[in-house]
Amino acid sequence: MEKRLVVLSGAGMSAESGIQTFRDAGGLWEGHDVMEVASPEGWKKNKELVLDFYNQRRRQLLTCEPNEAHLLLAELEQYYNTTIVTQNVDDLHERAGSSHIIHLHGELLKVRSVQNSKLIYPWSKDLHNTDINDLGHKLRPHIVWFGEMVPELENAVSYVKKADIIIIIGTSMQVYPAASLIHYAKPNALAYYIDTNPAIINQTPCKINIIAEKASIGLKSIINDLKNNSQ
Ligand code: APR
Repeated sequence: MEKRLVVLSGAGMSAESGIQTFRDAGGLWEGHDVMEVASPEGWKKNKELVLDFYNQRRRQLLTCEPNEAHLLLAELEQYYNTTIVTQNVDDLHERAGSSHIIHLHGELLKVRSVQNSKLIYPWSKDLHNTDINDLGHKLRPHIVWFGEMVPELENAVSYVKKADIIIIIGTSMQVYPAASLIHYAKPNALAYYIDTNPAIINQTPCKINIIAEKASIGLKSIINDLKNNSQ
């Protein structure tokens, strides 16, 4: 039977595409108070500031391309039953060709009604405070902000629990509940963590092989490893 692979990706995954991470030097939060631009309180206080922050990020995303690491992951679908659980709000996994992606923190190229969170729309231009849907509802970025529920969490947990192979890529493992997902792994799962500056992850159910590399280089070595071990 096809093995189940779950990838847990963070901002470092898209770094080679030219998208800034959050917590590295010069990161996205530098110069921004996180709670001002990425929380319900910040949204209440200053919608223009929040919209401007995401408009800039959306515009930048449209100029970026998937990198080698995204492409390598998409290829792994030929060999494994693959699920990508990403904290990233970009669409680079999709554009690289991965077909099963769970966006834990929402998607930059979507907006939703502030009155009904189920009304979600594709959106690639700037979002303005005056924009409304056909029912007259105001719109907000389709992003999970600090302090908000993570609607896809249970879904992601169910895949991690069944995974034979887990690859964590490019995350500082500082933001919960995303960082807690690895704790649902099976004890015999084969797990890797690729990051240029890997965090220390304690008390995981399975052993984690740490690979202190850029996403693309680390992935190539894992793929070799998997091939050599006929995994
Ligand atoms: N290859 C691999 N890893 C990299 C690379 C690279 N080229 N460049 C940077 N990294 C690593 C950093 O060492 C760091 O551990 O990527 C990680 C990025 O960490 P963060 O900036 O904290 O991003 P992430 O973990 O995805 O943040 C989680 O926090 O701000 C919120 O909602 C936001 O989804 C985000 C969440």
